[in-house]
Amino acid sequence: MSSESIPRSARIWVTGHRGLVGSAVVRRLKQAGFETILTASRTELDLRDQAAVRTWVQENRPEYVVHVAGKVGGILANSQSPADFLYDNLLIHATVLRAACEQRVQKLLYLGSSCIYPRDCAQPIREDALLTGPLEKTNFGYAIAKIAGLLSCQAYREQFGMNFISAMPTNLYGPHDNFDLSGSHVVPALIRKCSEARQQGERNVTVWGTGTPRREFLHVDDLADACLFLLEHYDSAETINIGTGEEVTIQELAEQIRNIVHPEAELRFDTSKPDGTPRKLLDVSRLHGLGWRHRFSLREGLEQTCDWYLSQGAGNR
Ligand SMILES: NC(=O)c1ccc[n+]([C@@H]2O[C@H](COP(=O)([O-])OP(=O)(O)OC[C@H]3O[C@@H](n4cnc5c(N)ncnc54)[C@H](OP(=O)(O)O)[C@@H]3O)[C@@H](O)[C@H]2O)c1
Repeated sequence: MSSESIPRSARIWVTGHRGLVGSAVVRRLKQAGFETILTASRTELDLRDQAAVRTWVQENRPEYVVHVAGKVGGILANSQSPADFLYDNLLIHATVLRAACEQRVQKLLYLGSSCIYPRDCAQPIREDALLTGPLEKTNFGYAIAKIAGLLSCQAYREQFGMNFISAMPTNLYGPHDNFDLSGSHVVPALIRKCSEARQQGERNVTVWGTGTPRREFLHVDDLADACLFLLEHYDSAETINIGTGEEVTIQELAEQIRNIVHPEAELRFDTSKPDGTPRKLLDVSRLHGLGWRHRFSLREGLEQTCDWYLSQGAGNR
């Protein structure tokens, strides 16, 4: 473990800075006093294009990289276009890692995702569960690409001595999430449904499934804090889980969101819809052992996210 702090004058590149995670990482780095945060939008730089990425890196000379960009989507999008999720995500990490290696950056952090662990692994999920069993079928294209990204970090460490590390975040939520009901995750979907029901004077809000599955949720600002912490304190080839180590049922989650956004609403559970796996919780003892802990309680994080969503003109509380 290293405990060196990164000079605040260092040139640090955040890929995918317009997304949920990337925007939170940029906020955290600014708050920490970083003076030279490098970003490029997709129209300026398509990360699937190796020649363009190489040129951009040569011109902008990053010293540190937080590699967040990726093609991300819900179950429907993933199951309908596994080849696109595989292709884009393979290229997005291949180009960035190669260019970062050629540039001899000081350090790179790559983000995986807890959904790339095997479908039926023991709970809470330890880091060594990776590649120990069959993957969830609905997102296998995405999972294969992300696993290749994680292993690429190890390969660059071995062959070129690069300080590339990887981390596995749990389910995330927060400002700038995707609130489009066709592709959104459970937190933004419930916030939007409760908000729309309130606006329309509707008392019933439908929740998919039985409400019994247990899930872990991390506020994206906590994830961003963990990313900076790992950049400054973690130097291992082993990937590391990022989560809270705490879980709630979907019913408890829905009740909390209902109580914030539309307290008069009644939740209806549509049991004809799938529940997914009964439990998904990361083992975060490695991260806790380094001294990092999340700060947002679920209640505080949900309140802040609901406020943000409603402040975007999405509804009136
Ligand atoms: N959300 C979660 O719950 C979660 C959980 C665990 C891990 N993660 C990981 O966190 C990372 C970011 O997720 P997110 O939720 O922040 O996703 P997001 O909001 O969809 O953001 C993804 C970012 O990547 C950029 N991007 C995608 N394809 C690109 C390309 N070809 N060239 C340049 N930029 C491209 C997007 O640019 P545009 O803005 O132009 O589209 C966007 O800024 C992913 O690697 C994901 O695996 C997310």
